[in-house]
Amino acid sequence: MLDLADPDTYVDGPPHDAFAGLRRTSPVHWQDGLGGFWAVLTHADVEQVSRQPELFSSAAGGVVLEDLDPPRLEQMRAMLLAMDPPKHRDVRRPLVARLTPRAVAGLTDDIRRICRDVSAATDNDGGEVDFVSAVAARLPTRVIGQVMGLPAADWERLHTLAERITRGQDPAFAADADSAGRASQEMGGYAFEFATARAAAATQPDDLTAVLLSAHPPAEFASLFVQLVTAGQDTTATLLSSGVLALLEHPDQLTRLRADPSLVPTAVEEMLRWANPLHYFRRTATADTTLHGAAIAAGDKVAMFYTSANRDEVVFSDPQGFDIRRSPNRHLSFGVAEHFCVGAHLARLEARVFFTELLATFTDIQLAGAPVRLRSNLNNGLRTLPVRLAGMAGRLRPASNS
Ligand code: HEM
Repeated sequence: MLDLADPDTYVDGPPHDAFAGLRRTSPVHWQDGLGGFWAVLTHADVEQVSRQPELFSSAAGGVVLEDLDPPRLEQMRAMLLAMDPPKHRDVRRPLVARLTPRAVAGLTDDIRRICRDVSAATDNDGGEVDFVSAVAARLPTRVIGQVMGLPAADWERLHTLAERITRGQDPAFAADADSAGRASQEMGGYAFEFATARAAAATQPDDLTAVLLSAHPPAEFASLFVQLVTAGQDTTATLLSSGVLALLEHPDQLTRLRADPSLVPTAVEEMLRWANPLHYFRRTATADTTLHGAAIAAGDKVAMFYTSANRDEVVFSDPQGFDIRRSPNRHLSFGVAEHFCVGAHLARLEARVFFTELLATFTDIQLAGAPVRLRSNLNNGLRTLPVRLAGMAGRLRPASNS
C-alpha cells in the first residue's frame, strides 16, 4: 500500500505511477501515516489550497507532516514559511523587494565567478567526483553567503548545519533524531551573534542582512536567517544535481542543450518540473470544507504534493517526458500565491549561470556509478551522484574577462 509519509517510499524514486492512478481515482487522497493527512495530488487543487491561506493555515501546525513538539513548532512559526496573514505579508514584503529578478540580476557576475571557482576546485580532468558534495552543494552556500554579507570563513560551517537541518530524516546526515533541531538552534545562535555585531557597526553594507535588520531585532532576524540559509542552500543544490542527472539520463536533451545554450532557461524550468526539489508542503484546515469531493475537517493536515501536480496530464502534455524546450511550463516547484518562494528568482539565476558554465567548461560529463537518492519524504534529492567531468583544459578564465 502506498505510504507517502514513509521516507522509504521515495528511495527508488518518487511513486509517479501511483500518483498518476490516484489523480484519476482519488485526487484528494487520505493517508493514515503520521496521524493521518490528505494528499492533494492535482495541479488545480494544489493551487486552490495555496490560494486560501486563511482556510489552509501554514502557522497552525507548521508546513511539514510530522507533529512538532511545542518548542519546535514555535521555532518554525518564527519563519516566514510558517506565518499566516496578516503578519506574513508584512514580513515578506521587504524580502520580495530585495529578491526581484532585476535585483538579483546584479549578482550574475558574482555567481559566474563562484561557478568558476567551484569548477576549478573540481579540476580532476576525467577523474570521478561526487557531483552532489563536490560541485552542486558548493554554489548555493556561497551565493547566499554573498547575498547576506556573511564572512567567507563561516560558509563551510553554515553549509554543514544547513544539511543537518534539511536532511534530518536521512541517517547519512543526521546523527540522531534531534540532530536537525540542534543544528537549527546552533545556526540561530550564530545568526543572533552576527546580527548583534552588525547592528552595533557604524556603517551597514548594502546587503540582505541590512534590509532585514532594519525591520527586525536580532532574535527575529535569527529565525529568518535560518530559513533563508537552509531554504536557499539545499533546494538549489538539489536542482543542480538532479538537473545534471536528468540530462545524463536523456542524452538527446543534453546534446540539444550543448548545441543551443539559449535553451538553458527553459531547460532549468523543466528540471524544476521534472525533479522538483521538494515533494510537498503542508497546511492545516482551519474550518470544515470540501476539496474535489473530499470532506476535510477543521484541524486536518493537508499536504500539497508538487511531485504529483507537476506531472498532471490536465496541464502538461507528455507529463512523464523530460523536454528542455517545454513552454509554457506551469510547474509548482516554487509553490504558488501567498507563499511563492521568495528565492525563486535567485535560484533560477544560479541554475542558469551554473548550467551555462558547466556545459562550456566540461565538454564531457558522464555517470561514473549509480546515483543514491536521499531517504526523505520531503526532500526529493540525491545523496550522491558519481560523475566523470572532463575536457576543461583552457576553459577556466576569470569572470571579468567574459
Ligand atoms: C530550487 C530552489 C528552491 C525551491 C525548489 C524552493 C521551493 C520553495 C517552495 C515550494 C516554497 C513555498 C512554500 C509554501 O507554499 O509553503 C518556498 C518558499 C520559500 N523559499 Fe524557496 N525554494 C528554492 C530556493 C530558495 C532560495 C534560494 C531561497 C532564499 C534566498 C528561498 C527562500 C524561501 C523562503 C524565505 C520561502 C517562504 C516564502 C513565504 O512563506 O512567503 N528558497 N520555496
